[in-house]
Amino acid sequence: METTFVIIKPNGVKGGLIGEIISRYEKSRLSVSAMKFKTIEKSEAEGFYAEHKERGFFPELVAFMTSGPSVLLALSGEKAVEKVRTINGATNPANASPGTIRHDFAPNTGENIVHSSDSTTSAAREVAFWFEKKEIASYPPYSHVRG
Ligand code: RTP
Ligand code: MG
Repeated sequence: METTFVIIKPNGVKGGLIGEIISRYEKSRLSVSAMKFKTIEKSEAEGFYAEHKERGFFPELVAFMTSGPSVLLALSGEKAVEKVRTINGATNPANASPGTIRHDFAPNTGENIVHSSDSTTSAAREVAFWFEKKEIASYPPYSHVRG
C-alpha cells in the first residue's frame, strides 16, 4: 500500500471538476485518506515548489497556485504514485494521452489542473507538508469491494 499527494489546482476547482477528478482516482481503486479545501498562501506555494524557485516560470506558478481555492488530497492504494501520474497525464497537456485529466481539461502547462507526487519520497514529504498526522485516516481501502 502506497500513499501519494494530489492538488486539484484553482482552475480545476473553478471549472467544477472536483467530483470528476476524484471520481477518476476512486474508480482506479485509490482511496481518499486526507482532504482539505483551501486557498494556498504565497509562502506555502513558495515552500512547496522550492525545487523550482530558480526557474523562469516560478513567479507565475506561485501566482496561479494562490489565485483561488485548491483541493489537497492524500490518496492511498496499490501503486498510488504511478497510478495517479498516469491518470493525470503529461505535464504539458499537448503531450498528454487521450483520457487523462490533463488531456481532457488542461489549457496549458502552467495551468495543468492537477499536481501529484513524482515518487514515494516526494509523496511522504508532500503529505507531511500539508497534513498533520491526525488528519490522515487509516482504513483498509476498498475493503467493501469483493474480489
Ligand atoms: P506537478 O509537479 O504539478 O505534478 O507537475 P509535473 O511534475 O508534471 O511538473 P514539474 O516539472 O514538477 O512542474 C511543476 C509545475 O510547474 C508548472 N510549470 N510551468 N510554464 C512552464 O513552462 C511550466 N513548467 C512547469 C506546472 O504547473 C507544473 O505542474
Ligand atoms: Mg512535479
